[in-house]
Parts: sequence; structure tokens; C-alpha cells
Amino acid sequence: MKRMHPAVVRIMHWTNAIAMVIMIMSGWKIYNDEVIFGFLHFPDAITLGPWAQHGLQWHFFGMWILGLNGLAYLIYGLVSGRFRRLLLPISPREVIREALAALRFRLQHADLTHYNAVQKTLYVGVILVIILQVISGLAIWKPVQFSFLTALFYDFQGARLAHFFGMVAICLFIVVHVSLALLVPKTLLAMITGGPRVDDDPAARASSAPASNM
Ligand code: HEM
Repeated sequence: MKRMHPAVVRIMHWTNAIAMVIMIMSGWKIYNDEVIFGFLHFPDAITLGPWAQHGLQWHFFGMWILGLNGLAYLIYGLVSGRFRRLLLPISPREVIREALAALRFRLQHADLTHYNAVQKTLYVGVILVIILQVISGLAIWKPVQFSFLTALFYDFQGARLAHFFGMVAICLFIVVHVSLALLVPKTLLAMITGGPRVDDDPAARASSAPASNM
């Protein structure tokens, strides 16, 4: 029997978390060099790299880690059935019911091996935002070579705005996600040690059943 979070998932999750912090802090450094909103500058203490050029180098370094690690996680999630088992399907009715329960602090999280509808929505949501973030990032990096990507956001400025608001969405996710992990520390422990043992995919067991009866 394997763990709720197999080692490969834990490694990819924490690698992603480190890469994301590098991307956000170096992104703030680059943003400060040519701000979109005149009133918004990020304090130097929370940016990465002494100058914008260093920030850019950190951003590219983080990009390779985030991109390759993210691709590995997507392939693993699709091929192993993890996404189908843990993150899908999402029922809008359940999302509304559980979001209301969460606002009243009545959301249960007794069974670690299942995500509730709010968790599923947040996880699938952040995965989609990160994918969009990579696409808008490529569109800003090479607007000529990837002009077809830039066109998805109308123009270069549109891609820049999308990249900025994607960062805002990811930061909001991190605040909620980390708060919840700290509020329910056994989930945090599970993401470090693997968590409870779980049965292998029931579908796989069902398909192997006739052979074992022979
Ligand atoms: C920085 C960006 C982060 C992103 C994008 C992110 C994203 C995710 C996603 C998509 C999952 C579900 C993974 C799966 O089951 O396949 C997850 C699970 C989890 N993450 Fe994060 N995470 C981030 C950072 C963190 C940090 C900093 C912490 C701890 C303080 C954390 C704690 C956890 C825990 C405890 C779970 C398991 C949740 C549960 O069992 O209820 N994550 N994260």
C-alpha cells in the first residue's frame, strides 16, 4: 500500500513551493524597474537580487525549475490517475455548500485522504493559473518568437497585465493555503512524511480481480 502523498509528489510539491517563492520575489524586483501601477512598488527587503538584472536571472533560474517540475507533476498526475482520484470531479453545488461551511469555520477535514470541494477548487484553480502564468511569461519574454502567445492576451501590455494578476492570484492562494495548512497541522505533517497509507486505485483493483479469481 502506498502513502496518501507518495515521495515523488512530496518532492515535487516542495520543489514547486521553493521555485514559486523565487519566481515571486524576483518578479517583484523586475516589476519595480518598470512599474505598471505608479502607486505600487515592492519593498527591497522582499525582493530577490540587488538589481533588476539580477532579479531577471533569478526569474529565469526559477522558471526552469518551476517549468520542468510542473511538467513532471502534470504528467504524473494524469498518468497515475492522481488528478482523477483526488482533484476531480468538482461539483459546483458542493463547492458552494462547503465554502459556506468554511466561512462559518465548520468545514471538516477529518479524512486526510480525500480533498473537500473547496480544496479541489483551490488546487485545480492554482494549477490552471500557474499554467497561464507560464504562457503569459513566455509571451512577455519573447513577444516576437511567441507572438501567437502574445496575441492570446491581445498585445504585449495585455500579457504583462495577465502576468501581474496571475501573480496576485497565486499570492492570495498561498496566503489561504499556508494558513489552512497551519490551522490543520496534520495535513502539513502528511505533506512531509507521506501521510496515511491508502489502497491502490480501486479501478486498478477491480480490473485485476478476475485474474485473481482464476
Ligand atoms: C508556494 C506555492 C504552493 C503551491 C502552488 C501549492 C500547491 C499545492 C497543491 C496543488 C496541492 C495538492 C497537491 C496534490 O495533492 O497533488 C498542495 C497540497 C498541500 N500543500 Fe501546497 N502549495 C504551495 C506551497 C505550500 C506551502 C508553503 C505549504 C506549507 C506551509 C503547503 C502545504 C501543503 C499541504 C499541507 C498540502 C496537503 C493538503 C491536504 O492534505 O489537505 N503548500 N499544495
